[in-house]
Amino acid sequence: MKKLRIAIDGPASAGKSTVAKLVAKKFSYIYCDTGAMYRSTTLKAMRLGIDLHNESKIVKMLESTEITFKPSEQGQLVFIDGDEVTNDIRQEDVTNSVSTVAALTNVRSILVKRQKDIANDGGIVMDGRDIGTTVLPDAEVKIFLIASVSERAERRFKDNAEKGIHTPLEELKKEIELRDYKDSHRKVSPLVKAKDAIELDTTSLSINEVVNEISKIVENCQK
Ligand code: CDP
Ligand code: CDP
Repeated sequence: MKKLRIAIDGPASAGKSTVAKLVAKKFSYIYCDTGAMYRSTTLKAMRLGIDLHNESKIVKMLESTEITFKPSEQGQLVFIDGDEVTNDIRQEDVTNSVSTVAALTNVRSILVKRQKDIANDGGIVMDGRDIGTTVLPDAEVKIFLIASVSERAERRFKDNAEKGIHTPLEELKKEIELRDYKDSHRKVSPLVKAKDAIELDTTSLSINEVVNEISKIVENCQK
């Protein structure tokens, strides 16, 4: 069977990582969360007290930083230089700063190169903002997931509640809108649907329904 490259892009909380993981499992493919790479870069820079607009310092830091993934019973674990940071990279301060770091041209070129290397052998589901446009422009399957801002804020609200975090819904909505705005308006590889991507509106779809839709597209491509 042909080992495909599946690109899943879209705005914050559209369901990309949840669905990407399940599609990867179904086809026994690797899953690569590129957002975790931008989050890890941001977390390390914050811990080192580097100004998040200081591109040359962040680039220098990143060149000697190893970001790795390891599958586990609890899902995929993320490591910076061997230290586990899976939960730390999801903290609100990282979430609210990551778009600033992700807008830095030379940070993107380093991470995009690493992402291309990871996807080199195919059999991969990669999710992010610029996978179908920049990282894997020749991906056999390109999906662009969207959902209304209200639905996405509610999804994040529920995720937070499970972790004991109670940020008001309106605040989450504003954070999501601001991050989408920054991600869509940056100069380098902004969040945009690739011309040949299939758009799926997940506002009123369950996770299983989205996985089934994508699986049908993948199976058609494998024929
Ligand atoms: O899961 P969530 O939607 O919160 O975001 P994420 O996928 O973890 O990505 C976090 C941030 O990293 C995004 O808001 C973008 O600023 C940046 N990102 C990017 O610029 N390009 C990617 N391929 C992936 C993430
Ligand atoms: O990766 P991204 O930020 O696009 O979203 P996510 O972290 O995969 O999904 C955010 C939340 O939405 C998770 O709790 C998912 O379980 C939930 N979700 C949903 O309720 N319905 C869907 N069709 C997809 C995701």
